[in-house]
Amino acid sequence: MGEWLVSGPEMAPGRRQPSGRGPARDTTTGTVYSGQERREARCSCVDILDLTTMATGTNPTSVLGTNPAPSLFSLSDRTILVTGGARGLGLTIAHALLEAGADVVAFDLLQPVEPDWANAQAAAAKAGTSLAYVPLDVTDADAVEVAVADAFRSARTPVRGLFHAAGIQLLRDALEIRPDQWRKIIDVNLTGAFLVSAAFGRSWVAQGNGEANIPGQGAAIALVASMSGRVANRGLECAAYNASKAGVAQLARNLGMEWGGKGIRVNSLSPGYIRTALTEALIVERPSVLQEWTAGSLLGRLSTADEFRGPAIFLLSDASSFMTGSDLVVDGGHTAV
Ligand SMILES: NC(=O)c1ccc[n+]([C@@H]2O[C@H](COP(=O)([O-])OP(=O)(O)OC[C@H]3O[C@@H](n4cnc5c(N)ncnc54)[C@H](O)[C@@H]3O)[C@@H](O)[C@H]2O)c1
Repeated sequence: MGEWLVSGPEMAPGRRQPSGRGPARDTTTGTVYSGQERREARCSCVDILDLTTMATGTNPTSVLGTNPAPSLFSLSDRTILVTGGARGLGLTIAHALLEAGADVVAFDLLQPVEPDWANAQAAAAKAGTSLAYVPLDVTDADAVEVAVADAFRSARTPVRGLFHAAGIQLLRDALEIRPDQWRKIIDVNLTGAFLVSAAFGRSWVAQGNGEANIPGQGAAIALVASMSGRVANRGLECAAYNASKAGVAQLARNLGMEWGGKGIRVNSLSPGYIRTALTEALIVERPSVLQEWTAGSLLGRLSTADEFRGPAIFLLSDASSFMTGSDLVVDGGHTAV
């Protein structure tokens, strides 16, 4: 029936179906249709034609609609908070955000690693942006509240973004992991994500932004989850880590729902395997995983942290103005098969 509608010469745009109520033959395909089938086809065809001819004029646009497309990815005139910003993925993204125009406040338990930190400082100097480091344990609720509020107060441009990368991993068989080890993973990876996000939301609302639900004027949070929140990693005993990352992606959905009307978009980013200090430690402990991980990627390789600059800038900028409560999977196709 579909073939008849779209390809039969009698159904070319603007032409009527052949008259009569009885069976008819599609002249292109040779298929014979009953009278009933023809009446149903006539109905849906008229609906489609009506909508097509009724729709005239141009598309409505958002307030961002007249901005040149590349400007959607600019992060100028704003400050972005980055947890886990002293090394690894967090520091790489902090560097990229500085280049894209944002001031960055990096929070971490560790002191920043060199020479990556100095390189990020140099990028900031070149771009006219600024990079600050604040020591912070994301599981310490009081310290998080104070540190985030301080950043909102002292930033030279409005705080409008959070990239939450602080996280830890632990390989332990589910039969052997101790409750305190399980809780530590959940505490850092999931509760930490919640504490930092909630402190961010409170400071955002306290600054009177709670009604800023206008494209281009709100804030964006990107929580680093993992493809490991969607699958069990073959060969790795890490139930606590994977459960925590599934929780992070779900947290983004719920916060997206609660804060959509307050001008805060909340999404998660789910990377596949990245070569960082965290994974190097796993590879050293168990060299066989490298071959396993590589085989699982549709691209036949692991990623490097720089490959998440684009996705992070997308999630934190106006380029993703209609995106909230989503999980952006960037995993070399690992979870596609
Ligand atoms: N490396 C990967 O393959 C991979 C894949 C998917 C997701 N991730 C996630 O990406 C994020 C960054 O990982 P990475 O590979 O860069 O690891 P990393 O160990 O190099 O960086 C993690 C950072 O988080 C900080 N951190 C840990 N606990 C903290 C706490 N309590 N308070 C504040 N900071 C704390 C660490 O000091 C470190 O600087 C993590 O959330 C990780 O789970 C990593």
